[in-house]
Amino acid sequence: MRRTISFTLNGKPARVTVDDERMLLWVLRSDLGLTGTKFGCGAALCGACTVIVDKQAVRSCSTPVKDIAGKQVLTIEGLSQEGRLHAIQEAFLKHHAFQCGYCTSGMILSAYALLLKTRRPTRDEIIRHMDDNLCRCGSHIRIVEAIQEASGARQGGAA
Ligand code: FES
Ligand code: FES
Repeated sequence: MRRTISFTLNGKPARVTVDDERMLLWVLRSDLGLTGTKFGCGAALCGACTVIVDKQAVRSCSTPVKDIAGKQVLTIEGLSQEGRLHAIQEAFLKHHAFQCGYCTSGMILSAYALLLKTRRPTRDEIIRHMDDNLCRCGSHIRIVEAIQEASGARQGGAA
């Protein structure tokens, strides 16, 4: 059913009038022009489309937009503040935690959700949490190192 859905997107009010079963991924990418959220599998299997909804990591390819009405959505475009990258983004750069970059926004936002829940996750907790985010370039070891860095578990920043 076509209707107007209102939510908060990267700290600002957003409103779209669409089929309410339309997936959030397409609302973000096609309707609102935020292409940092990527389409990978389209079946909730790879994590490329991960965004944060009310502090939880959510697969936007499998989330109908009606489910985010009234909620707070954070995409990769909203993570930096006042022109400064978030500590997780800085750590990904420092550890070269990407190659093609296709998985990266989903990885960073999944890591963000983990660090919201667990300030100093162990290496095992990071690996378990990130297990369902796939990287076809094989950057996983450097991704885990970057998340350790961002959490403050290695020398460097704190998220
Ligand atoms: S595109 Fe959503 S999980 Fe793969
Ligand atoms: S950096 Fe290429 S898919 Fe992860």
